[in-house]
Amino acid sequence: HQDHVADMIADPSAPEVSRRIRADLAQVDLDLVERLMRGEGLAVQRDGHVEPADVLPWTYACSPEAVACRKEGLELLERGKVAAVMVAGGQGSRLGHDGPKGCVRATPLERKSLFRVFSEQVLALSRRTGRDIPWFIMTSRENDAPTRAFFESNGFFGLNASAVHFFVQGMFPSLSLDGKFLLSSEGGVFLNPDGHGGVFRALRISGCLDLMRDMGIEEIFTFQVDNPLVKVCDPLFIGLHHRRGAQISSKVVRKTSFDEKVGVIVKQGARTFLVEYSDMDDTLRYATAPDGTMLHWAGSIAVHVIDRVFAEHVASRDGALPYHRAVKTIRAMGPDASIVTVDGVKFETFIFDALPLARTSVTLEVLRAEEFAPIKNATGNDSLESSRALQVARHVSWLTSAGVRVADGVAVEISPLFAYDADDLMTKRSSLPDVISRDTYFG
Ligand code: UD1
Repeated sequence: HQDHVADMIADPSAPEVSRRIRADLAQVDLDLVERLMRGEGLAVQRDGHVEPADVLPWTYACSPEAVACRKEGLELLERGKVAAVMVAGGQGSRLGHDGPKGCVRATPLERKSLFRVFSEQVLALSRRTGRDIPWFIMTSRENDAPTRAFFESNGFFGLNASAVHFFVQGMFPSLSLDGKFLLSSEGGVFLNPDGHGGVFRALRISGCLDLMRDMGIEEIFTFQVDNPLVKVCDPLFIGLHHRRGAQISSKVVRKTSFDEKVGVIVKQGARTFLVEYSDMDDTLRYATAPDGTMLHWAGSIAVHVIDRVFAEHVASRDGALPYHRAVKTIRAMGPDASIVTVDGVKFETFIFDALPLARTSVTLEVLRAEEFAPIKNATGNDSLESSRALQVARHVSWLTSAGVRVADGVAVEISPLFAYDADDLMTKRSSLPDVISRDTYFG
């Protein structure tokens, strides 16, 4: 039932269009598309009773076991057993930023890009552990070249370029509601990035998983490009995951409201999984505990540690992750080569759907003020403005706990290269002033 595309392929008067369509279709698993349109292989709502996941509270970070976890995490980093993976292939359509989202100037004073913020964290930890942390960055067909160019033109922000590896995620067609391929404005088949769950397949196809195995990597720390407060390769989290023999672990924060747009970690029997906010029904969303508080408060910040062997297992099975189906407005090419807006079906897979495939997983609560200030929207919540304010608040709190008084209304920014966290800052107390009365950058 794709005659419109078959006709274009066969049209001798438009060889370039024919070539583009054939090239695009060569990457598409047509059987899979057909099955998904029939409703097979899709993520389903779990029937039955769902309970809140077992979550280690944020106070765990102060426990004696946490000291041992941190030590173990640092040792793994020192022995070169950890790789970082950043998923940065999204289209960032809500933010309305032109180009890779990682180029957004995220920080409050220096206006550093997100890419620079993460690079400085990786660099800081590499210096601390005396070893380059291999960093794998997933891009998409659309933003791969500008992402690489950005790193190159900025000298990889001081990182050893040979430790930074880019790989491109797969694409998947969006279809019209009645299952027809749509055409892109460039004249090919309309494709979109296949979701961040495509990271497993893309790591395999690009050879990056093999490279990780050859490097002796045991744990993979994954994070999204949109959160400048993420603690890249947090030793505590890595050590905890490793000591517990987990396959995939997650960090959560307490949701601020029933309606906050974050996925929630829950469990059913022995299996842990994540219910995405867009899939949550009202019973789950508004469920309360006997004391009236929010029952499903464990909001995912999309930070995971994944056992490398488990990642290989997921990557080796096409169809291991279910597809999520969403109806979106798509700008496609209409019959007379004009651009039209149509409703289409988009399919994506997500990393967190690997959770129920794991035998063991750990969920760790962290403090929102310390680790979560995403940039997703142009204005309001989770915007550049709200994120910058939260970054300032975190750094003010670090300085305050180090005994420095920061005057009201003053902005401060601390480079990861100056201090990785509050404890690290404390060790620099003698180089800090007692009072800060104007905007100050610590770099
Ligand atoms: C995401 C999570 C949500 C979590 C929240 C925390 C999903 C589907 N949902 O929501 O559970 O609570 O973050 O901030 O992820 N990306 C790719 N390739 C793609 C699509 C996305 O690399 O094909 C990357 C983006 O570049 C971005 C990240 O995935 O780094 C998040 O994608 P997005 O669709 O914006 O998810 P959210 O709705 O923000």
